Amino acid sequence: NPIQDFAGLSILLTAGPTRESIDPVRYITNHSSGKMGFALAEIAAKRGATVTLITGPVNLSTPDRVKRIDVQSAEEMFTAVKANLDGQDIFIGTAAVADYRVDTISQQKLKKQPGQSMLNLTLVQNPDIIRYVGHVAQNRPFVIGFAAETENIQQYALNKLVTKKLDMICANDVSQSHIGFNSDENALTVYWDNSQAHIPIAPKQAVANELMTLILRQFHAS
Ligand code: C5P
Repeated sequence: NPIQDFAGLSILLTAGPTRESIDPVRYITNHSSGKMGFALAEIAAKRGATVTLITGPVNLSTPDRVKRIDVQSAEEMFTAVKANLDGQDIFIGTAAVADYRVDTISQQKLKKQPGQSMLNLTLVQNPDIIRYVGHVAQNRPFVIGFAAETENIQQYALNKLVTKKLDMICANDVSQSHIGFNSDENALTVYWDNSQAHIPIAPKQAVANELMTLILRQFHAS
């Protein structure tokens, strides 16, 4: 059994993609597998934390001693986060939340219209879940976000750290196909205050273990 250095701490995580319905049979989603969030939940629980994991649709089994809550859309994820935020010491947002959803979900399957080569969908912005958590006024947890980027990685990550009011942000370069989305390995650069640390490429379990150690150190320092 690993050292129980998270004993007494409650951690809330989001993981996976969200699924935004278009009609009863179609939806918009992204390539998130949920693996990084599930690895973090597993490691935190093994190290003694009380863990709640709110996840979009993924093909992963629930780690031991983790309370799992399944959701589909960004709005459902937001509702579940708000309902479980009380008493959390740490919030980690690994979910790849869809930025937009279809404004009105069709009640019936959309039919192909003969002679109509274009179909327009109107999208509306989803709530930014981690931004909400970063800005809560009372009993705000220590907040860690992720930034999956294909370019200008450091600049975008630091911008999110400030605008979403995060305590730490973990950036990964998803333009490299061997790390990030759906792969079993990852590499991260973590930013906070005026510091940064690099976690070199390794299986997501190992990266999760190193990241949880970094998070715990900064949590106690804050
Ligand atoms: O802005 P972007 O989506 O790249 O930010 C990524 C971070 O913000 C991740 O931690 C992600 O879980 C979180 N996020 C969120 N709600 C959104 C969009 C992103 O919690 N609607």
